[in-house]
Amino acid sequence: MIFDIITIFPGLFENVFNDSILGSAQKSGLINVQIRHFRDFGEGRHKTVDDSPFGGGPGMVLKPGPLVSCIREIRKDGPIGPVIGLSPQGIPLRQTVVEELSRFDRLVLVCGRYEGFDERILPEFDLEISIGDYVLTGGEFAAMILVDSISRMIPGVVGKIDSVEQDSFFGGLLDYPHYTRPYEWENQRVPQVLMEGNHEKIRKWRRGKAILRTAIRRPDIFAKTSTSQIDRDLFQSVLGED
Ligand code: ADE
Repeated sequence: MIFDIITIFPGLFENVFNDSILGSAQKSGLINVQIRHFRDFGEGRHKTVDDSPFGGGPGMVLKPGPLVSCIREIRKDGPIGPVIGLSPQGIPLRQTVVEELSRFDRLVLVCGRYEGFDERILPEFDLEISIGDYVLTGGEFAAMILVDSISRMIPGVVGKIDSVEQDSFFGGLLDYPHYTRPYEWENQRVPQVLMEGNHEKIRKWRRGKAILRTAIRRPDIFAKTSTSQIDRDLFQSVLGED
């Protein structure tokens, strides 16, 4: 997967993708992150990329010319997959969106700054994505989150595909509780079912806990999850265990 990230702050991305799982994914060629500095397409002696808003108001707006020239330059490479603008006005990022995007070979991520994009840039985007209902100083951190969440869905990036499939949200539920050694720590013991080695019992316990946790912590997600009768039984069986 190639990620082209269009930004006026390329320095923000230095080293972000060089360590850990994404570092290995880059070294092994599973992902390739290319940072594009769109000030290179800026106008005039000062390479201007922004200007004050028509109609007045605070802040600066990204001019259409430099950004669109940068996108069109990338388009010269051939098919590039979706061009995605990062902005609080976009569709909310969810695991289902992440999964869909991970199927492309290439994505272009466009980071906004200041008060946002001149409206005439928007036809260059295939979609706009927001990472949440809050405002960041720019789209760069949102782009990092997209690269991270999409990359780990690419086969081979995360060591065991099981760990992706058992993720929070993958099956539309939050994750179940995890424990490791020591068995007893500060008077708290690991639930007995995890110590008994009965894999079917463990699977059911975990699913029950995931359902319970989703219902309590995220009733909005729970309302949308289709739960079968067996799930309701599992849910009942773990009620009151915490
Ligand atoms: N740029 C500024 N705020 C943002 C947000 N919430 N999501 C994506 N891009 C942004």
